[in-house]
Order: sequence, then structure tokens, then C-alpha cells
Amino acid sequence: MDHFLYQKGVLHAEDVPIPEIAAEVGTPFYVYSTATLTRHYTLFDEALSGLDHLVCYAMKANSNQAVLALMARLGAGVDVVSGGEYRRAIAAGFPGERIVFSGVGKTVEEMETALEGGVRQFNVESEPELRRLSDVASRLGKTAPITVRVNPDVDARTHEKISTGKSENKFGIPISRAREVYAEAAGLPGLEVVGIDVHIGSQLTELEPFELAYAKVADLTRALRAEGHGIRRLDLGGGLGIPYERSNAAPPLPTEYGEVIKRTVGDLGCEIEIEPGRLIAGNAGILVSEVIYVKSGEGRDFLILDAAMNDLIRPAMYGAWHDIVPVNEATPGAELQPFDIVGPVCETGDTFTRNRPMPELAAGDLVAFRSAGAYGAVMASEYNTRPMIPEVLVNQHQFAVIRARPTFDEIINRDTIPHWLEDPA
Ligand code: LLP
Repeated sequence: MDHFLYQKGVLHAEDVPIPEIAAEVGTPFYVYSTATLTRHYTLFDEALSGLDHLVCYAMKANSNQAVLALMARLGAGVDVVSGGEYRRAIAAGFPGERIVFSGVGKTVEEMETALEGGVRQFNVESEPELRRLSDVASRLGKTAPITVRVNPDVDARTHEKISTGKSENKFGIPISRAREVYAEAAGLPGLEVVGIDVHIGSQLTELEPFELAYAKVADLTRALRAEGHGIRRLDLGGGLGIPYERSNAAPPLPTEYGEVIKRTVGDLGCEIEIEPGRLIAGNAGILVSEVIYVKSGEGRDFLILDAAMNDLIRPAMYGAWHDIVPVNEATPGAELQPFDIVGPVCETGDTFTRNRPMPELAAGDLVAFRSAGAYGAVMASEYNTRPMIPEVLVNQHQFAVIRARPTFDEIINRDTIPHWLEDPA
């Protein structure tokens, strides 16, 4: 469920008509709903009720400071994967003890930043990282709380580019070698083993892979405890999928996911962390764009939009589906016609979808890409010198620009011409 509904034939974000935002900020833009973000966080929080737990929002899905500030106020923790994301978390008001630091390639500088600023735990992904973190923490006179990310060799049955829990993926330590790695960690200075971490992939639409992975983590917890390790925290990662295509069956709900967690690891007396990103932000955002041209091609017609692959890369990168709807609701029963929906960028990859049945649309009409709140704005670029598009946050009847569109001068002036290319005075 989200809060982007038609009211009197016009798409709204909560109580704000989309055309009103378009008139003020110009198209294209992203708009997010406070009510939906709040609802999705709360669903996860309630799904884990009865367990000692922390929902650590994976900010890679949407790291706008306003979204983070909302999560911080709701009491969430946060999962970060770079020094930049760590700084965003601190700037948005997350205390260090609610920041989990994940990622396969943490640098010395990133480790120092988090150790100095405070961190809940590092999720360590390899033995070289373990040794480096031990060195850095010892040098700073700190103790780094750690989990080791184990790779359970489970097929998440999702898109290959976002599957992470198979043995051939670059992530984590093979679960078969976990005991020796924990033994090494226990002997290294500057580290305190606090738990185990696992994350098997993103956009999972079935619960079985989670169940298999978490059962393996439960077995490992018992085995490590028997060897004297103080396993008191389990980070179970993110990955629960969202309904991108409304005509398809909906993926499992957070409550059902919570049941899996309780069934597999609920009796271990561990503190449970989860790192959902997409399910919190995905259906809390839409991308609004204007039709520039309706173009008749040979055997096919094109809707050319002012949004492009640089603004929303998921279709070009993963072949991802986003529902695309007119902002002015089509009359019920209106005839639909197939369109290739494309952006203005100069490559064929800049195609959002092919042969999509759409109602009649004309230049100047607005359309909305649904489910664009996660991995939309954060993956945008300025390819073709197209400015990063604004982000807007709605809260009931009010809205605010939470990231403004840069000017062309700002973009151009980020570059510098070296002195040997400057015009002779
Ligand atoms: N924790 C870790 C360690 C992760 O690597 C990820 C996502 C998450 C949590 C959050 O997963 P979520 O709940 O959002 O599924 N750009 C891709 C998705 C990449 C996901 C990467 N890792 C897309 O647009 O589909």
C-alpha cells in the first residue's frame, strides 16, 4: 500500500496534487511520501515485536537527508556502506551506536572515521579486512565491535546483479570456513566479536531463501558459542522485495518475514538486526515526468519523456519494470495503445519499456513511474549534462523540496580547465 492515489481523477502524493508540485519545481522530479516511509518502517518494527531488535534502514536505497532524518526520528538504526554514507547518517542525527557499517571494501580512512565517530558494529567481509581493522583500531586505542558476514551459499532466486549469497559472489566469508575466521578474530587485538551477519540479495519475492540462510546462521551461532564466542547479535541483512508490477502476485509481507525470523533464530536470545532498504523507500516514491513528444515510428510509436536513464537507471541496468501511469487518470475503459517509452539520452539503452499499453497521451502531459523511491535518485547521474533532478517530500497537505535541481553553472563550474589550456592572456 502507498499514498499515491487518484483523487477526482488527478494523481496525488498524500493530499498534494502532483500537477501542483510540477508547476512549482518543474519536471522531472522525484516525490516521496512521509506516510508511506513511516508505514513501511513501522511494519518491519512490528514484525519483530517480541524480539530484542533494531531495524537498520539500508540508506543505499535512498539517502536523502530528509528521508534519513525521518528514519532517525522514528527510532531506526541505519546501515551504511561508505564513509560518505556514514557522514550522512551522523549529519541526519543517527547516534554512532545505531550505525552499522557494511561493505566489502572498507578503507583505512573509512574505518578511522567510524571508530572515531562511534559505530554499532562493522560487518567484516574478509580476513584481510579483519586484520586491517584490528591494526587500525589498535593504533587508535579503540575496540571495534564486529560481526563476520557469512556467505551461506543460498540462491536468493533474484536478478543475478543483485544476488549476493551464492558462493560465487564477492560477498562475505564462505560459511564452511566461518569457524576458523572467528577463531582468528578472537585472537586479534582491537576487535570484539559481537555477532554474525548475513545478506543474501535484494528484491527477493519468496521467503524460502531467507529461511534456508537464517537456519544456517542459527546452526553457526550454536557452533560458535560452543567454541566460546560471545554471539549475542545477528544481523540478517535486507532484501525483502516489493510489488513492482501491480498485476502480479504481491511478494510476502514484513509480518510473514518476521515469522521466518522468529522461527529460525528467535530462540537464540540474540539481538536481531535487519537492513531493509527497498521495502521502506521503494513504493514511497514516484518519478514524475512530462511527455515531450509523441512520435510515430515504423511499426511502433514512441513516448519521448523528459526523464531519462540518467534519472532512473533500473530499466536500462536490470531490465526492471516500473508501472507508468498518467497523472490525469485515464477514463475507465479508455482504449490503450502500445508505446515504447523512452528518454532523450543519445543511446538506445535509454528505453524505459517497450510495447507498454498506455492511454492516449499528448505532449505536455505528465506521467508517473511508480515504485521509484528506492535505487532511483541515489543511482542517478548527470550523463548528457542533464542536471540531477529535484527530490520533494510530501507530508499530508504540505511539500518541500529536499534536494534542489542544480543550475547549469554549478555543474559546469565543478570542472577546472588546467592552466596550459587556458586562453593566453
Ligand atoms: N544490506 C546489504 C549488505 C546490502 O547489500 C543491501 C542491498 C541491503 C542491505 C538492502 O537491500 P534491500 O532491502 O534494499 O533489498 N540497485 C539495485 C539494488 C542493489 C541492492 C544492493 N544491496 C536495484 O536497483 O535493484
